[in-house]
Amino acid sequence: MASILFDEIGLLYTGDQTGGEEIASAALVVEDETVAWVGPAASAPQADRRVDVGGRCVLPGFVDSHAHLVFAGDRTAEFVARMSGEQYGAGGIRTTVAATREAADSVLAARTAALVTEMLAQGTTTVEIKSGYGLTEEDERRSLEIAGAFTEETTFLGAHVVPAGVSTDDYVRQVAGPMLAACAPLARWIDVFCERGAFDGDQSREILSAGIAAGLGARVHAAQFGVGPGVEIACELGAASADHCTHLSDDDVTALATSGVVATLLPGAEFSTRSPYPDARRLLAAGVTVALATDCNPGSSYTSSMPFCIALAVREMRMTPLEAVRAATYGGARALRRDDIGVLRPGARADLVVLDAPSYVHLAYRPGVPLVHQVWRGGRKVA
Ligand code: NIG
Ligand code: FE
Repeated sequence: MASILFDEIGLLYTGDQTGGEEIASAALVVEDETVAWVGPAASAPQADRRVDVGGRCVLPGFVDSHAHLVFAGDRTAEFVARMSGEQYGAGGIRTTVAATREAADSVLAARTAALVTEMLAQGTTTVEIKSGYGLTEEDERRSLEIAGAFTEETTFLGAHVVPAGVSTDDYVRQVAGPMLAACAPLARWIDVFCERGAFDGDQSREILSAGIAAGLGARVHAAQFGVGPGVEIACELGAASADHCTHLSDDDVTALATSGVVATLLPGAEFSTRSPYPDARRLLAAGVTVALATDCNPGSSYTSSMPFCIALAVREMRMTPLEAVRAATYGGARALRRDDIGVLRPGARADLVVLDAPSYVHLAYRPGVPLVHQVWRGGRKVA
């Protein structure tokens, strides 16, 4: 067994919920792929190798629990139009679907790899990747196959929009039937874009229920554009997460709090569509578990940066830096029902970020600055 002592940690954010979350002048020991010990540097045990982090801050690798990375094409023109006043809608998805269907497997895989590498360099050690730009049995299947080369957290999003030339009823039947059968072996999760312009409550319930019956966990694009049935359905079906919790009724907030369904907030989407941000304080006050993720996609949020989302959460959503960092680590892990990541405590996977800063607060305090000094995943230095 090979062990590494990370020493001279100025501030260690462990994300541990019980024993306090921050240790100053800390050390951390990794054995193989796993965290073996955390505590004050003065009482650290010996290890085979020592890494001096020079007083920097160490925190768990970010868990980006919501991303759409398998796509081709470019929507720069749509972004430019939107910045001069045009409204964002679900329709742009079809532009990306056309480009994605045209692209060779190798091109899609290379583009996905580039985004995952970008993410890793910014501290993301786990990313969920959705399909949803194929929308045929074969194109969804290959999207998931490509996603699966980069993560275990793969999500079948055949119900992203209804593709051109197909009736909604036929498409819902297809997604819940043969497309699901082809995709379920390659996916851990099923997701539905439950929103006007995409799928209504009944259609979403039908597709999610079919996915659950096929052994997948549920997650829902629930409330991006307006209050609708998405959150209620997520809670009713025991989804892991209701995502895009931007427009919520009081009942939605109560349902999230009592069901334990994670509310995932994606402020990159509000930033890039110039829309009002979700009310994070309302969710936190109600005791809801909040996750922060990038929503990285070519239409509504073409950022791969968790640090950027943390800065937005603090500046625009009034989360404290501690709440935002917790949501980007522990929150994301909860949204994926994982307890081996998003925290640095004995037994957790040794996924950690060394920041070129004395504190995680700098992620929000120094927006846009590349503060990630090193990234370790499963006990190996990867960036
Ligand atoms: O999460 N809302 C649905 N899907 C994406 C946007 C996809 C796109 O515009 O291409 C989202 O924002
Ligand atoms: Fe999304």
